[in-house]
Amino acid sequence: MSLKIAIFASGSGSNAENLIHYFKQSKHVNIVLILSNKPDAFVHKRAKKLHIPSISFTKNQFSESDYILKLLQEKKIDLIILAGFLLKVPTNLIHAYPNRIINIHPALLPKYGGKGMYGQYVHEAVVAHNEKETGITIHYVNEHYDEGTIIFQAKCAVLPTDTADDVAKRVHQLEYEHFPKVVEKFIQEKLNNKNP
Ligand code: GAR
Repeated sequence: MSLKIAIFASGSGSNAENLIHYFKQSKHVNIVLILSNKPDAFVHKRAKKLHIPSISFTKNQFSESDYILKLLQEKKIDLIILAGFLLKVPTNLIHAYPNRIINIHPALLPKYGGKGMYGQYVHEAVVAHNEKETGITIHYVNEHYDEGTIIFQAKCAVLPTDTADDVAKRVHQLEYEHFPKVVEKFIQEKLNNKNP
């Protein structure tokens, strides 16, 4: 028995690639599709190299119609992973996938979350506020940006000499280390409950 995963990404897609590598040999996890709101996002190149289909869509198709929902249902997607995806997830998807949409955020929520807080902006804010530590948060997605129930957090230090780029690198390492394992654990629990 394996669960079908769709990954949404808006940018580089290094987390998407890391997840694809991690689950390549898995009997339980099948990453079947990459979706992006950006036709020129680098994640499409990664998907091509890794032989995973990728598609792009407009904001209207995503937010104002059932186009994406129907596509996910046609492909029998069980779980959605947001890996650097920047649009707010519409309610039709949230209702169709209750506790089955997981996001990764590059900070210790509830700090540095919400609309406009993504990627490099998060790390710049962390440095500007002289934080001593930051980290990652993996959480369920609900109707509000970055407010769904937290599944997992991990911390790393922020040094006084750090630039936002230094922080970004350290946070990315945490993401690569933990995100696949957290997804794997989540899926194991779903399969063990016989509630796939
Ligand atoms: C990741 O750090 C992810 O946590 C962040 O975007 C980056 C994407 O990197 N997500 C957000 O900021 C969402 N609010 P990647 O495209 O190389 O995986």
